[in-house]
Amino acid sequence: MIFTPLCDLLGIEVPVICAPFGPWEEVALAAAVCEAGGLGSLGTAVLSVPELEQQWAQLRTLTDRPFAINHTARPLDAGAFRATIEERPAAVSFHMAVPADLIAEAHDAGILWIQQVMDARQAAEALDAGADVLVAQGGEAGGHGGDVSTMVLVPQVVDMAGGTPVVAAGGIADGRGLAAALALGAQGVAMGTRFLASTEMNIADEWKQRIVAADAVDAVKATNSERVLPPYNVPGSYGVPRSLHTPLVDALREHPELVDPDETVPRLMEAVRRGRGDEYLPFTGQSAALVHEVLPAGEIVRRVLSEAEIILAGGGAGLAPPPADTEG
Ligand SMILES: Cc1cc2nc3c(=O)[nH]c(=O)nc-3n(C[C@H](O)[C@H](O)[C@H](O)COP(=O)(O)O)c2cc1C
Repeated sequence: MIFTPLCDLLGIEVPVICAPFGPWEEVALAAAVCEAGGLGSLGTAVLSVPELEQQWAQLRTLTDRPFAINHTARPLDAGAFRATIEERPAAVSFHMAVPADLIAEAHDAGILWIQQVMDARQAAEALDAGADVLVAQGGEAGGHGGDVSTMVLVPQVVDMAGGTPVVAAGGIADGRGLAAALALGAQGVAMGTRFLASTEMNIADEWKQRIVAADAVDAVKATNSERVLPPYNVPGSYGVPRSLHTPLVDALREHPELVDPDETVPRLMEAVRRGRGDEYLPFTGQSAALVHEVLPAGEIVRRVLSEAEIILAGGGAGLAPPPADTEG
């Protein structure tokens, strides 16, 4: 079994974190990951405090294991953050900026802080502010991210982090990714796209099937997303979402002036609240190229662990696909 100090810190059995998915409902998924020994997460975007409290209560009926509640700077919802502190999850995770004051507030309440970072500047800020875990997120990632690749960012952040555990995110979808992350000095992985295509995830089946069918080049940066997404409200925030192509994504990339926010935003928000949104902004990472089937989340966790164990025991070649038939 692969067990790292990160597991001890978070009270989990295996060093696998399921990413938060902003406004998309993932209670059953989070519970399945927790029950498989990993850390489940819940996003908070777009939802009211009563809706969030309902999700948290539901998750607590499904598992008594630790989980994380996520917030981002696009925008930070002060009321939802306050409710999160009162809920006292094992950890709060945060993305797109490093809010030192909120980190202190979480610590005062005895809550761990998992800070996702997209570059070395943010890693330094997070370390200064006392973050307990840094998630080094490479630009391959689905959802909001930066430009530095996972292969460069993870060892760079590890070199800065001293005793603070670093988790690798972005482009990781199987045991090869976990083994590579550990080789780079990380103590675990956070996976988004792989868990989106899980049985338990509450998104449209069409989106899952598009992930299964996608190549890495199909997951593109949805530039000009500020036309249709809420503004940042924490200093130092940035990030450009990575998504599968849709007519909206293509229009934003090529002719942003033709996207009418007054017409688009209500349709987008309404769809997202119904668990859809795949017609508009289906956030997905390049690791979609490594996802070949929709699987139960527990099975994903088990496979990632067992594949990594084989690789780390020196049997990595056994995981390679069979050689293609050659002529002659
Ligand atoms: C649909 C989707 C929604 C996301 N929403 C959030 C979010 O609300 N907060 C956050 O911190 N990260 C969010 N992320 C980014 C993940 O935390 C993570 O960094 C990313 O999924 C890792 O890359 P991967 O998709 O290649 O596994 C999201 C990712 C996806 C795919």
